[in-house]
Amino acid sequence: MQPEPITKYAAFPLVPLPSRQWPSRTLTRAPIWCSVDLRDGNQALAQPMSVEEKIEFFELLVRIGFKEIEVGFPSASQIEFDFTRRLIEENRIPGDVAIQVLCQCREDLITRTLESVRGAKNVIFHLYNSTSPKQREYVFNLPKEEIVQIPVRSVGQLKRESRALVEAGTHLRLEYSPESFTSTELEFALEVCEAVTDVWGPTPTEKIILNLPATVEYATPNVHADQIEWMCTHLTRRDATIVSLHTHNDRGTGVAATELALLAGADRVEGTLFGNGERTGNLDIVTVALNLYTHGIHPGLDLSDLNAIRDVYERCTRLEVPPRHPYAGELVFTAFSGSHQDAIKKSLAHQKAGKPWDVLYIPIDPADVGRSYRAIIRINSQSGKGGVAYVLEHEFGFQLPKLMHKEIGRVVNDLADKKGTELSSADIRDAFQREYLERRSPVALEHFKTTERDSTVKCEARIVFDGKPRSITGAGNGPIDAFVKALGSAGLPKFDVVNYSEHSLGGGAEARAVSYIQIKMERGAAFFGAGIDTNIELASIKAIVSALNRAMRPNDDV
Ligand code: KIV
Ligand code: ZN
Repeated sequence: MQPEPITKYAAFPLVPLPSRQWPSRTLTRAPIWCSVDLRDGNQALAQPMSVEEKIEFFELLVRIGFKEIEVGFPSASQIEFDFTRRLIEENRIPGDVAIQVLCQCREDLITRTLESVRGAKNVIFHLYNSTSPKQREYVFNLPKEEIVQIPVRSVGQLKRESRALVEAGTHLRLEYSPESFTSTELEFALEVCEAVTDVWGPTPTEKIILNLPATVEYATPNVHADQIEWMCTHLTRRDATIVSLHTHNDRGTGVAATELALLAGADRVEGTLFGNGERTGNLDIVTVALNLYTHGIHPGLDLSDLNAIRDVYERCTRLEVPPRHPYAGELVFTAFSGSHQDAIKKSLAHQKAGKPWDVLYIPIDPADVGRSYRAIIRINSQSGKGGVAYVLEHEFGFQLPKLMHKEIGRVVNDLADKKGTELSSADIRDAFQREYLERRSPVALEHFKTTERDSTVKCEARIVFDGKPRSITGAGNGPIDAFVKALGSAGLPKFDVVNYSEHSLGGGAEARAVSYIQIKMERGAAFFGAGIDTNIELASIKAIVSALNRAMRPNDDV
């Protein structure tokens, strides 16, 4: 990098717009969406889509609800021409969907593009030419007057040559893009757009689409918004114009630039799914649409099965949606940090059906986009106790008492440390089972029976202690008390039961009870145990044995 002072780059000039309105506006409705996946997105692929893949992608876009789809650049490639023809000839375009075809302002290309759309019901003919000073100077070497004439001539030709098509029933609309609009002097961009509008002659019911591309993103989003507001307020036939946005993402702010430019008055947005496109990509329509949705505005696109959309996208484009991609990334509904997990768990518990979504750290209900809560919490050695308890409860139904969370959290974190990877839900369940439910040593319970007389419960139990079978008996005010006494009389360490809770696991005839018991040893250390049985009494007795075994495991100073 160049050391200070930087002379190689300079700030982007501001737009003089002292009365700008967009900063104090809020978005209230969704724009018209136009997908350019099959053209701008496709031309940016290392291996462009085959005709079959384009058909699959087109059908996906239709299912999502796009009503305007740029299907290609038919005059530039035979594949795109053939694809356009197949869509039309095989009747694959729904009646309410317009196909858009891109074309340079060149006579032969316009004629060929018109051939490609013969028989289509709704067509947007998208003409473009570069208008920026650098393009004028380095590429075309033409003065402004001649640059204006390029689209003017082409629009005239289009009007003439499309007459037969229109008479045959095609609804033909014009989209014009002054390419590199954001790098063009605003007055000149306006002059070109006005000249094109003059020739086309739009009306408030048959509008022209003026697409104002940020072909390369050079400025901050506020400058882009100013440029769009300036155009919206200077176009003489604004009521006969659909102002369209087409941002690229060179500075990583394509989404922000689009959102601010919508505030500035634009009506329409071009972009691609997940932001595929030349260099750093086009605008990511999924993100803008779901950003609107999370502000209470339905985008008019059905993104309720984002995983399925992502699958088709990844298969057809051979690109991957990154794991942190907004809304669609593999990890975006996953919290690794313990404090986040705890906050998510608590706010999920407060979330009421039918009420506004209010879950900390998760700005959208994953279920709205077909994602599930299952992946919200994954456990690694940094995770907190809340995350472990959440997984055990939500995936396996174990409602551990709050006091037990810390203990099981430590067990699972030790395991994660040992494994050095994050743990799956099954790993967590297995760790819980090993630690609490499957301990048979040094004490194993073989048999347990109680009888009750005059409010005194007597128990008889058969245990194996340190490998030796023992029969023990005890009496108390309940089965737990009787068993504790029986254990004490058999010479096992003394303890008190300090906490008890239970709930049923599963439902119906198959339901079992799970019991959690905390015992406190004579020297003060406390241990939880857990037991499961179809008989609630036996579940508690097993929980005591579990706690005792945990207390007496090697290295624990009882
Ligand atoms: O980025 C761009 O300028 C384009 C035009 C053809 C609209 O894709
Ligand atoms: Zn583009």
